[in-house]
Amino acid sequence: RTLDGGGRHLLPGLIDSHVHFRTPGLTHKEDWAHASRAAVAGGITTVVDMPNTVPPLRTGEEAHRKAELVDGTSLVDYRFHLGVAGEDPSPLREVGAREATSVKVFLAGHHTAPHVVRDPVQLEKVFRTAAEAGLRLLLHAEDDGVFSLLDEWRGAPSGYAEYERHRPRSGAIVAVARVLELVRRHGTSVHVLHASTAEEADLLTAGAHAGLPVTFEVTPHHLSFTAEDTSRVGARTRLSPAIRYRPDQDRLWQAVLAHEVATLGSDHAPHTRAEKLRAPADAPPGLPGVQEMFPAVHTGLRRRAPMDSPDAQLSCLVRLLAEHPAELFGLDERKGRLRPGLDADFVLFDADERWMLEPDAIRSKCGWSAYEGWTMTGRVRQTFRRGVSVYRLDELGHDVEFGTPDGRWLDARRPADVEPR
Ligand code: DOR
Ligand code: ZN
Ligand code: ZN
Repeated sequence: RTLDGGGRHLLPGLIDSHVHFRTPGLTHKEDWAHASRAAVAGGITTVVDMPNTVPPLRTGEEAHRKAELVDGTSLVDYRFHLGVAGEDPSPLREVGAREATSVKVFLAGHHTAPHVVRDPVQLEKVFRTAAEAGLRLLLHAEDDGVFSLLDEWRGAPSGYAEYERHRPRSGAIVAVARVLELVRRHGTSVHVLHASTAEEADLLTAGAHAGLPVTFEVTPHHLSFTAEDTSRVGARTRLSPAIRYRPDQDRLWQAVLAHEVATLGSDHAPHTRAEKLRAPADAPPGLPGVQEMFPAVHTGLRRRAPMDSPDAQLSCLVRLLAEHPAELFGLDERKGRLRPGLDADFVLFDADERWMLEPDAIRSKCGWSAYEGWTMTGRVRQTFRRGVSVYRLDELGHDVEFGTPDGRWLDARRPADVEPR
């Protein structure tokens, strides 16, 4: 069978290694069926889901049960990251690669992530155990302890505005420095999620150059929005970690273009409209992004690297959204080799089409997007999973098919067996 691609780019199916699809327990915010439709509309054919559900995902056994729950509802293939908090981490040694190759650790807590490791002794244990078990640790690196250290500053009459400005930034920077020290001591493979400040990019790049097994992720929203936008978009862009300032965003783009960043992850974390309409301090942090990530970052890349050819821009995105996540998370089950696209997951992409995300095209159950009203450059026209079309746009820009939700729980290999580059 042949396919007329109409002159569009053919790319491997993309992997979003950072989503919160909210199953089980938080399905009033999002559910797997909606989220996976949003994913294929954004060119994503595989996701790795985060453990901060209700109840949280902690063991290999629970991963099997979760896969049963998801089975029959997913347009995309999937894996899970496990979570760990205050409990004895030694059972992680028994987790098989089939179940998980990665464990997420929150260093600061909030609304949807009450499972935090704050105790330094416990944190040492988690790093040691992960190193012994050959599991990769994923870090939500923020620190709420540093807030109280800065309280004195807060008290100074002229210091308050400065305090507000720097408080969340310093929490992330302090946490990343701490993570690097733990990696140095224990040799744990670490992927730092949603790096948001210039200093984090500097520290993590220096750590990697010094030979530490550290990589990092950036999100589409930290590349797309700055603090100036938050006044316009409001609580929609309230996030953890927060949206930062222009120099941070410039440094993150530089890190993307200089190949310092390993992966892009959407951090797709929907909340209901009603939750987001609460007073800013009560609105839970998080926003949807699995549908928007690829075109939004492509749009930014056009602006940030205008001299690069469309092919070079797309190669950059394919590294960040297919090759690297496949390497880091051992997604090789199907043909025993680390090459995305091998089982005919692919995407037809029109790199020049300019379009707007209309409210009725939003597939997430939450029904809103921080990118509403944005003009995007580059649009997913069709998505195939295992050779079958699961998403297609017609010439008028309407979705015409979504396929059957027969996405599978993928097998994977351990980071120890697939240590990247
Ligand atoms: O903004 C966020 N939302 N940050 C997180 O770490 C969790 C996420 C969520 O699950 O809502
Ligand atoms: Zn996080
Ligand atoms: Zn997240």
